[in-house]
Amino acid sequence: MSTSRKACTIWFTGLPSSGKSTLAEMLDKKLKKGGHNVEILDGDVVRTNLSKGLGFSKEDRDINIRRIGFVCHLLTRNGVFAISAAISPYRNIRDELREQIGDFVEVFVNCPVEECIRRDVKGLYKKALAGEIPEFTGVSDPYEEPLNPEVVIESDKEEPEDSLNKILNKLAELGYVSKNGFTTGDDAYTQEEEEKVKKRLSDLGYI
Ligand code: ADX
Repeated sequence: MSTSRKACTIWFTGLPSSGKSTLAEMLDKKLKKGGHNVEILDGDVVRTNLSKGLGFSKEDRDINIRRIGFVCHLLTRNGVFAISAAISPYRNIRDELREQIGDFVEVFVNCPVEECIRRDVKGLYKKALAGEIPEFTGVSDPYEEPLNPEVVIESDKEEPEDSLNKILNKLAELGYVSKNGFTTGDDAYTQEEEEKVKKRLSDLGYI
């Protein structure tokens, strides 16, 4: 039996400090553990290479997001799970990429701006609120929420593990992974199951 290796793009979207990168990294780890090929395209990282020199006008953001989407498309069609973790504030560009990529799972990391300001992971809200950073998403630049995302994360109310499980369950429901994070049709065990089996075999004196 051939194992199915159909991948998808997991497209996180949300305000700065909403938790996109954290969840992207957790998902990356989990999928890799399940034997999948995975690549993360994080907004901050992409802006230091692929999109170096781009700013934060709508025009530049659109170019940035289309570039990330293009790479996600190439990866996804070659069986790699592509995880995007850019703000991607504009709905029409995200929807354009959904059309282009097809296997597209949008994850809206919903977090009230007050909580994002409280977290202020990089100290940029403080600067933006002081008028030192123009066009800052959530402060002086728009963020358009998705209307029909596959997953909505309430990152101010949920534990990160629960949010991760929400995403994995959706990926399983859509047939991209099996319930435990492994590809459908893959007979491999999870680490937990493997430990159990090993213990049983050892108790029986086989190993
Ligand atoms: S996007 O709008 O084009 O999707 P992207 O995710 O790549 O944005 O980059 C956002 C990151 O750039 C933020 O996490 C923050 O560190 C930094 N940044 C600097 N200036 C801004 C700004 N004006 N608005 C939003 N993010 C900014």
